[in-house]
Amino acid sequence: MRDPSLPLRVDLEPVGRRAVVEPGTTLLGATRSSGVALVSVCGGMGTCGSCRVRLVSGDLSPLTLIEEGELSASEIEAGYRLACQSQVMSDVRVDIPPESLSATQRLQIEGQASHVQPDPPLVVVDVRLMPATLTDLRADSVRLKEALADLGYPGAVISFPVLADCSDRLHAQAWSARLALRPNDEHTEVIAVLPPGSRWFGLALDIGTTKLAAYLVDLSSGLTVAKTGAMNPQIAYGEDVVSRIAYANISAAARQVLQARLVEALNRLVDELCVTARATPDQVVDGVAVGNTAMHHLFAGLPVRQLGESPYVAAVSEPLEIRARDVGLRVSPGAALYLPPNIAGYVGADHVAMLLASGLGQTSKTALALDIGTNTEISLAIGGRLISCSCASGPAFEGAHIRDGMRAVLGAIERVRFADGAFQVHTIGEALPVGICGSGILDAIAEALAAGMIDHRGVPRKDHPLVAQPNGQAACLIVPASGTGHGRDILMTRGDINEIQLAKGAIRAGIDILLAEAGLTPEALDEIVVAGAFGTYLDIGSAIRVGMLPDLPRERFRQVGNAAGLGAQYLLISRAQRVMAQELAGRIEYVELTAHSGFTDAFVRALYF
Ligand code: FES
Repeated sequence: MRDPSLPLRVDLEPVGRRAVVEPGTTLLGATRSSGVALVSVCGGMGTCGSCRVRLVSGDLSPLTLIEEGELSASEIEAGYRLACQSQVMSDVRVDIPPESLSATQRLQIEGQASHVQPDPPLVVVDVRLMPATLTDLRADSVRLKEALADLGYPGAVISFPVLADCSDRLHAQAWSARLALRPNDEHTEVIAVLPPGSRWFGLALDIGTTKLAAYLVDLSSGLTVAKTGAMNPQIAYGEDVVSRIAYANISAAARQVLQARLVEALNRLVDELCVTARATPDQVVDGVAVGNTAMHHLFAGLPVRQLGESPYVAAVSEPLEIRARDVGLRVSPGAALYLPPNIAGYVGADHVAMLLASGLGQTSKTALALDIGTNTEISLAIGGRLISCSCASGPAFEGAHIRDGMRAVLGAIERVRFADGAFQVHTIGEALPVGICGSGILDAIAEALAAGMIDHRGVPRKDHPLVAQPNGQAACLIVPASGTGHGRDILMTRGDINEIQLAKGAIRAGIDILLAEAGLTPEALDEIVVAGAFGTYLDIGSAIRVGMLPDLPRERFRQVGNAAGLGAQYLLISRAQRVMAQELAGRIEYVELTAHSGFTDAFVRALYF
């Protein structure tokens, strides 16, 4: 029998942390002691419901009345508890859903193991050459090719940029080298001449309309060793794909500016990744880039005029392999860059990557997947069919066009609950609030609706005590000036609500049209996969309350983070995944929403709360 005074272990998944606590400690206390930041809007009073976790194994104190009030019957059955109300009674294992983790914590995922068996298109071999002498005057390139032929790679090809660097390297490395090779049916190409024993890496890029994500993957183990992100600097030329395309169409020079700004930012990310992994850009010998069709084309230097005009046709839909150096990426001079197939319209290679990583491309379930961003791509899987569409959800969920909106950084309100006649907020980093990010504004609208502060059209009720009227315009007071970090009120105006209505209306209309195309109602969905940074941080309950997502039991939803970025990493390390991507893209039936007869009605219906 276990000594009841001994400390207990609390394993926190999927963050992989362990807390060691005294019996009777709350789960919220346990997460705090291990440095895991759980959202706790009410500070542990049991009134906000934001600290939901799921018990996987072990014993907690019995369910409290507060928990019975906050959790639904299906949540209780699935093992959900409020971390602030449940005490640790034995060693326990607890699963923290993404929406219960504070944003700062969720950005710290590195070295993520992949479920995909590494099978990259490149191999490395180590060679040791005989140095040139007066009786052996073979050129360095000939010496190298003959050594490769001896190793079973006859007829090797060395492109000029690799060749230009090759002699100096071989001399400096005393005629020893690790070669990154790309064998194919006809010949073997020498991609890089590296110092003996060098590690070799691949670069996975997810080029979003608003955000960029970059991952450095060790190609021998398949492990991601560094990840980083930045805003897409093209935002300065247009917030969404339509305005970005309009700018590119001004002239060939304007299109080149967009490409150059993007590549500059990506090169900075490559440098950052290399510093983190103690590598040099020369060691990056292969790459994969995914993005929606517009981002894909602008990055690759393809024309986008046809994408901006009906019938919105891509210049290229088949997979591309280009040279990283041809787009200006500063990695190994011979490195190739694989761009997976696009589907149609704006549904591009990033959605293919997301479908691969989330498993939706292979599922036998009736399932829906949404990759929520400035442009939202949606796919419905049913009986082997995949039906997809894209909707212009705009940048409101990134905090843009919102009076006190901001990105999900320190001091941003990320969770909002209404209790005891006031809003309670949780900020990223638990700093004093200075603005509100996408998940926060969605929560604020859901809570304001439930509290009767706004009506079903989104209009604030002027007779509500928390509705202020700055400049004669009714607005909900989220945090008064006395409680903010900048000494000004944080408000939610009618205009802010309208921006969110447009975004959620576009997404919900897309969902409804896909379901109608398949002759289904939402209840038929076994699973809804929600991807993208905002998709990870949003509270599913709030998204349901505002009508953005169908009202289904919470356990049918799965928030998967940046699945497009994960898919890009899979494609980087696996030739089989590249074959699957092509098969999957070929199977997708694309629905152009702007041309769909039911879209306008569905959109107008979805605007209301
Ligand atoms: S922190 Fe647990 S319910 Fe609010």
